[in-house]
Amino acid sequence: MKKSILYILVILLGVFVVTACEYEFVEQEEIVVPTPDPDNPLSFADDIVPIFTNGNYCTACHDTGGEEPNLEAASAYNSLTNGGYINTTNPEQSTLITVAGPGTSEHGWKKFTNSQTEKILQWISEGASNN
Ligand code: HEC
Repeated sequence: MKKSILYILVILLGVFVVTACEYEFVEQEEIVVPTPDPDNPLSFADDIVPIFTNGNYCTACHDTGGEEPNLEAASAYNSLTNGGYINTTNPEQSTLITVAGPGTSEHGWKKFTNSQTEKILQWISEGASNN
């Protein structure tokens, strides 16, 4: 009788150890270069600016009086286009992406995640409008 309780305890302990040590392997997602969607384009103001400003993700440093480009909502479009950070012919070669994209080691601060990069590439490939 005592022995069977011991067995059960050992089995329960085993199950606990096995589940506690289970790791989740999250595969690194590939950047999927998005297809432009002219009928339903992304909006710079609604889809792109929040990437820069939410939680001061970029605007912690790229703000008025801070680093160029100024990525605050009121300045981001002009800073990016006048500063030559956007390449509509070859979106992936845009300085915005080559400096702050996920695959670069140039910019030692915050970088775009893969999904943020995909959104920005889509917006650029749709013509980089101030929409
Ligand atoms: C903690 C401060 C900090 C944060 C946050 C930050 N940056 Fe920067 N960034 C810098 C500094 C400092 C430079 C200038 C030095 C350099 O080029 O590495 C710079 C340079 C850049 C440049 C190149 C400017 C040029 O003229 O060549 C780009 C583009 C850029 N950052 C984009 C971003 C984006 C997009 C984000 C958000 C994902 C971001 N940065 C977040 C500090 C920051």
